[in-house]
Amino acid sequence: MNHTAERIYQLRSEINRHNHAYYVLNAPIISDYDFDMLLKELERLEKENPELDDPLSPTHRVGSDISTGFTQTAHIYPMLSLSNTYSITEVGDFFRRIRQSLDGQSFSLVGEMKYDGTSISLIYEHGRLVRAVTRGDGEKGDVVTENIKTIKSIPLQLSGEGWPDKFEIRGEVLLPWEAFEKLNAERAFNEEPLFANPRNAASGTLKLLNPAEVARRGLDAYFYYLLGDNLPFDNHYDNLMAVKSWGFKVTPILTLLNSIDDVDKFINHWDTARKELPVATDGLVFKVNSLRQQLNLGFTAKSPRWAIAYKFPAERALTRLRFVSFEVGRSGIITPVANLDPVLLSGTIVKRASLHNEDIIRSLDIHDHDMVYVEKGGEIIPKITGVDTSARPADARPVEFVTHCPSCSTPLVRIEGEASWVCPNKYGCPPQIAGRIEHFVGRRMMNIDGIGQETARLLLEAGLVTNIADIYDLRPEQLTILDRFGERSAERILEGIHASLSVPFERVLFALSIPFVGETVAKKLATAVRDIDTLMAMSVEQLTAIDDIGPRIAESIVEYFRTPVNRTIIDRLRQAGVQMAMPEDTRVHTDRLAGKTIVISGTFTRNSREKYKELIELNGGKNSGSISKKTDYLLAGDNMGPAKLEKATSLGVPIIDEDTFLSMIE
Ligand code: IVH
Repeated sequence: MNHTAERIYQLRSEINRHNHAYYVLNAPIISDYDFDMLLKELERLEKENPELDDPLSPTHRVGSDISTGFTQTAHIYPMLSLSNTYSITEVGDFFRRIRQSLDGQSFSLVGEMKYDGTSISLIYEHGRLVRAVTRGDGEKGDVVTENIKTIKSIPLQLSGEGWPDKFEIRGEVLLPWEAFEKLNAERAFNEEPLFANPRNAASGTLKLLNPAEVARRGLDAYFYYLLGDNLPFDNHYDNLMAVKSWGFKVTPILTLLNSIDDVDKFINHWDTARKELPVATDGLVFKVNSLRQQLNLGFTAKSPRWAIAYKFPAERALTRLRFVSFEVGRSGIITPVANLDPVLLSGTIVKRASLHNEDIIRSLDIHDHDMVYVEKGGEIIPKITGVDTSARPADARPVEFVTHCPSCSTPLVRIEGEASWVCPNKYGCPPQIAGRIEHFVGRRMMNIDGIGQETARLLLEAGLVTNIADIYDLRPEQLTILDRFGERSAERILEGIHASLSVPFERVLFALSIPFVGETVAKKLATAVRDIDTLMAMSVEQLTAIDDIGPRIAESIVEYFRTPVNRTIIDRLRQAGVQMAMPEDTRVHTDRLAGKTIVISGTFTRNSREKYKELIELNGGKNSGSISKKTDYLLAGDNMGPAKLEKATSLGVPIIDEDTFLSMIE
């Protein structure tokens, strides 16, 4: 072996060792700087010697930015779930059942944490990771190897010894609390929808098509189940210890339990101690330790008879209902909110909880000043889950849903087929107007720097802005007379308004607050229709002919543009210079793609597929529907079919993304 190859192998094993020390053992041996130096050296050597590259090299953990679709594959062993219970008594029943089924043989259980993430199955051959597959439907799942490789606590190349030549290992992919909170803070800043819990965040992240983004979010993984033909030990506990010595992060809470009493103690301890853990857990798992005994006990159709999950009860608190307020949002929907005596719940003080709608209020039979149970479910806002009727004052009256808008007193109407009541006074009801203005100026919409939620309310209260078009008539002297604004902040607002004139049409469309037209729909519409005049002239039938536009969206769009107030607003926005059409293509057309055959696959964000087809031809290239040896490039977007990807890879056709493509013709 030559010197360079030797150095490359040495660097890889050294870097792997440091990753393990840092991400698995939480005990780094060298400084971040020294680590980066090693990584940089390896990167350089691999670049200079491409024949020595290895897809499992630690340099490939950063994640490529090229979107990949997922292929599906069948699990070797189906991925079953665990039978579960919320009752300690039933865990005792499980223990007795095992004792009986094993005819009085002695046995131990292993107690471990039940991690609340998303499960993953990894296949290793000759000590190397070959495939990572999600649970899917239990029979087959998505191959997500590229995303899994970005999780630095997962060994790509095993260390230690004694691993079977081929085995499967299962575990839970998690987003630790800290990373979860950071991700949500970022999403809040960007006004993107928040993840309700780390589990949703982890499974959402694992399914991202962009491994670089996956790498950035900071997933982790804990392993709890080894499968294969030649396992090193005849019991679960020792196998997990072996797994640990090969470099995996196994649950640090792994305890042998020999009696019901041991089990009870284990439950009592972890019920509270788990709150100190860095990751979300939703229960405990008990497994028969001996693999021979596991085999004897076998499986039902859905789960192993040798294991049970004990789920922690959702934390709830009892507190007094002060009053129910009814709030009006941008869409006019009335949300009932329970205002409570402040109470501590899972580490935060809760003062308000959602009551959802009239039907929920009825079914809870909630009365004024009731003692109520509050729970944090999967949602971000806590909810009322029950009432302690025994504590109800004799003269308490049932909570009644309002019949008129709490803000503008208009009689409410109930949406057909839904549980919500709505204030129909769209153009005169202050919170609805304020909501639309706040939405319009938001970061993902017109992004008007200087106007936040508070400023929007202030402008509305001062009567300076009563609809979104008024924003463009604001003058400096109007702003400075409001004592909140100095000249500097007034200037900033006006600059922000001016800058919003270059916000692209698709975001303008989203900013208008047309019911059911969210970010994705707005983008679809903008690319399909190109300008607002075309859109305003379209019928429900024409609209539903567009991909992904259903009758509900179509009707809402037609209704919006039929309303005179809205037509006036659109006219005024247009007068002010707001973008009402997609830009004409002004690129100089070239012969840069002369003689090139290009296949397009997937969906794109910068231009429509049709536009890319046009651009290929305008620049002298040829479009083709299928990949062959003659294909020069595969222009790949999101959600590309796996078959195409595989074919392109096997024929060595270069895969380019839209940015690369655009830079080729620029
Ligand atoms: S063992 C055949 N152990 O819970 C049994 N599962 O409801 C294989 N989970 O899909 C699972 N922590 O995603 C096992 N310590 C643990 C676990 C665990 C979390 C998840 C796993 C599984 C689900 C079962």
